[in-house]
Amino acid sequence: MPWPYPKWVAHRGAGKLAPENTLAAFRLGARHGYRMFECDVKLSADGVPFLMHDSELGRTTNAAEKLGASCSPTGGDHAWGTLSQLDAGSWHSRSFAGEALATLDNIAAYILRNGFCLNIEIKPTPGTERHTGEVVATEAARLWQGEAVLPLMSSFKVEALQGAKDAAPHLPRGFLLETPRDDWIEVALQLDCVAMVCNQALWDAGTVKLAKSAGFRCLSYTVNDEAAAQRLLDLGTDGIITDRVDLFAPS
Ligand code: G3P
Ligand code: MG
Repeated sequence: MPWPYPKWVAHRGAGKLAPENTLAAFRLGARHGYRMFECDVKLSADGVPFLMHDSELGRTTNAAEKLGASCSPTGGDHAWGTLSQLDAGSWHSRSFAGEALATLDNIAAYILRNGFCLNIEIKPTPGTERHTGEVVATEAARLWQGEAVLPLMSSFKVEALQGAKDAAPHLPRGFLLETPRDDWIEVALQLDCVAMVCNQALWDAGTVKLAKSAGFRCLSYTVNDEAAAQRLLDLGTDGIITDRVDLFAPS
């Protein structure tokens, strides 16, 4: 498969310089020259794909204050109408106070209008893996219909990638790996993945050779220092996901 994506990918929008997974973060990443972004996507209780890393709302929103202690702290338990009222910026710093959570729809508008690329990490609320993969891929296929460059769909969860494959087989997929597993090549082949997106520590000359000879592109997360990035570039890997949009000039 031709590889249309830039080498450098801004993690969660702009890493830690703006509230992760918000439009403000994407805009900041773009101001640093980034043309590809990674984000985490899950479903609200009424099935709207939205951006959030954690299952729980507490770290990156004002849900405790706004919804009260009796409400479920889990994002997937609330309808989008409720989630859309939350402040997802104040936790980071006062300059982002009032920043809203973003839907996949919102981010697609920004990405497509600006000619950017997206890596959608499917991050299901536990217990909803397959369904989340199906819905997020269906929605991504609709939003990117007719586009030359499609979003790269990735997940740590095999069930989520299987759901994405069944719902929208034409969207490229990447298998995320935090720790080694003996069957990584077999699993990724079975899911028709085009890429392995690994914890950077998993890459060495042997694993790169194995993945490449099986036909996969090799990407790493989350690479935040120059020596680590150079090692991965020297190994011939294809993509680097970073928080340090202020340190690495993207190529
Ligand atoms: O998709 C790469 C990376 O984002 C995976 O880890 O926990 O930051 O979503 P995490
Ligand atoms: Mg992620």
